[in-house]
Amino acid sequence: MPKRDFLALTDLSAKEIVSVLDLAAKMKAGRYRGTPLKGKTLAMIFAKSSTRTRVSFEVGAHQLGGQAIFLSSRDIQLGRGEPAQDTARVLSRYVHGIMVRTYAHDEAAVLAEHSTVPVINGLTDLLHPCQVLADLMTVREAFGTWKGKVVAWVGDGNNMANTWLQAAGLLGFTLRIAVPEGYEPNRQIFEWAQARAPVSIYEDPEEAVPGAQVVSTDVWASMGQEGEAEIRALAFRGYVVDSDLMKLAAPNAIFLHCLPAHRGEEVAPEVIDGPQSRVWDQAENRLHVQKAVMATLIGGSAGRRVGGSSARGKGKNRRQRSKRTP
Ligand code: CP
Ligand code: NVA
Repeated sequence: MPKRDFLALTDLSAKEIVSVLDLAAKMKAGRYRGTPLKGKTLAMIFAKSSTRTRVSFEVGAHQLGGQAIFLSSRDIQLGRGEPAQDTARVLSRYVHGIMVRTYAHDEAAVLAEHSTVPVINGLTDLLHPCQVLADLMTVREAFGTWKGKVVAWVGDGNNMANTWLQAAGLLGFTLRIAVPEGYEPNRQIFEWAQARAPVSIYEDPEEAVPGAQVVSTDVWASMGQEGEAEIRALAFRGYVVDSDLMKLAAPNAIFLHCLPAHRGEEVAPEVIDGPQSRVWDQAENRLHVQKAVMATLIGGSAGRRVGGSSARGKGKNRRQRSKRTP
């Protein structure tokens, strides 16, 4: 069975997303006792800061019986110019999975291409698939389904917006993106999604939000864009999610934000700290979805129905490990 990477939401089918979320829900409910990562190690390469991604992957690997190693790209040779190809080849001899958070999506792709173990995207400038899996889980918890729902994205057409587009394209819900001119999401991803689902771009948040069940936003300057913060603050001035904007959404609408948030910039305190906010559940769900992804891709369930027989899973893990062990 070839290894499977998770660099983009589109690396999973719609059916597989549902299976991963079902497994995550089972884990969250405490109805999962498996240790599919027993004896296994996840290498976590971080070229950017992180609270949620780092801690949830580390805790998740531990809860599944394995361990995670934190590798700041400043401390490993990758940060001094060792090629990603070589890093991938070497890490594949030691560990059973690699999580990477970096700038260029291509770097994550090169790691995946040259590693013999699964590579998981923990955020690139282009995509943040683990986060949107957690967001989908949060939407499903609130409404039971995303089918027929309207998601409004307000703000930057960044890695989160691109990943929401992939989610809409895969799962078919309505996505309305309100973004200032010049900050639109990736064109190719938008066109891909537009061919599959009702996705649209607006300049005015007041056009995108009416009737939406989910209102989501993110920082105006992502990691790596700190030098543009001032100019972006001007461009995004009219894109604050405040209580007036939330009043246009469906009465039972929820507010999502991947965090970290800047109260008083992209979101008003009364919204993120108010009754419609689901941001803490959303953050918690990172742990559950990533455990489900690790159990599936690294724990040996890839290619089979997620949550299948653990006895079969264990046998397969042993065969995979012994093949790879030098
Ligand atoms: N949402 C998210 O990825 O958070 P961190 O940057 O803290 O990992
Ligand atoms: N768009 C943000 C997300 C942080 C989790 C960034 O890339 O910095």
